[in-house]
Amino acid sequence: MTVLKTVNIKDFGKKIQGKVRDIYVQGDKRILIATDRISAFDRNLGYIPQKGAVLNLLAAFWFGKTKDIIKNHLISVPDPNVSLVKSAKLIPIEMVVRGYITGVTNTSIWGSYEAGERLIYGVKFPEGLRKNQKLPKPVITPTTKAEKGHDERLTEKEIVQKKIVSLSQWKQMKKAALALFARGQKICEKAGIILVDTKYEFGFLDGKLILIDEIHTPDSSRFWIKKTYPERFKKGLEPENFDKEILRLWYAKKGYKGDGKPPEMSKKLIADLFQRYMAIYEKITGKKFVQDTPKNVNKRIQDNLRGII
Ligand SMILES: Nc1ncnc2c1ncn2[C@@H]1O[C@H](COP(=O)(O)OP(=O)(O)O)[C@@H](O)[C@H]1O
Ligand SMILES: [Mg+2]
Repeated sequence: MTVLKTVNIKDFGKKIQGKVRDIYVQGDKRILIATDRISAFDRNLGYIPQKGAVLNLLAAFWFGKTKDIIKNHLISVPDPNVSLVKSAKLIPIEMVVRGYITGVTNTSIWGSYEAGERLIYGVKFPEGLRKNQKLPKPVITPTTKAEKGHDERLTEKEIVQKKIVSLSQWKQMKKAALALFARGQKICEKAGIILVDTKYEFGFLDGKLILIDEIHTPDSSRFWIKKTYPERFKKGLEPENFDKEILRLWYAKKGYKGDGKPPEMSKKLIADLFQRYMAIYEKITGKKFVQDTPKNVNKRIQDNLRGII
């Protein structure tokens, strides 16, 4: 199956490449094109068919479901892989919200907790938690949004002291993040999914806080199957996950933690991820994912973009 590695669109200026999306800036708007690139450990690891469309369409679904909580950047979805959005002044903070204590890397909160830390990101964690346990209430564990290298942990104190945002702006971000997370958990729960943790990005538009980037996608979130979670947790088994965790686990098994050249993804891993991305879209939205696979996706995107700006 063909994959969209990158796009080359004429007449929209210079392409900016993120890890997953290709971006064209158009005045006060941005064209965000979700490619099929998959990243983890802050690097690109390969390609998953249809991933870009799943991501883009699922984020659009969530933007619609949460716009009463906070306004967001989405203007329109002219193509399965494309969102036209309002350009915002990006706040360089990744707002991570966690409902459960988990993770596979040393830098995950479970990694820190297991190593004996109880004050993580300036947040106090109670004694006696087990891996994958639900937290008494969701916590916010912000990181920097690094241009290069890995994201660094932040505390609320640092954010205000370094004047990344003001205290009242920070409070507004926290409130919005927790409300978005609660809404996400509720909608996922109805679909038989646990929204475990996620990441939001905010920006300013005309001086007002808005939600940007993506929301509740398998790239920005962990999802577990609700039905099997209690039993598996009791037995000390890993929850059945429906996100990128199998990718991280696959690499962890190979002893790869993000340094040096990554091993090449196996065909089976790619096929598994392809199925999962589609399945999570269908579970959450309740809609069938329609694969649109023209020979030339770049041309379809270019055609769909004609006249929208
Ligand atoms: N409305 C917006 N205004 C400005 N920047 C945005 C907006 N929405 C998303 N972005 C930025 O666009 C980029 C999206 O591409 P992505 O592939 O996710 O990049 P990254 O490698 O930084 O995660 C991100 O850097 C994100 O912060
Ligand atoms: Mg991103």
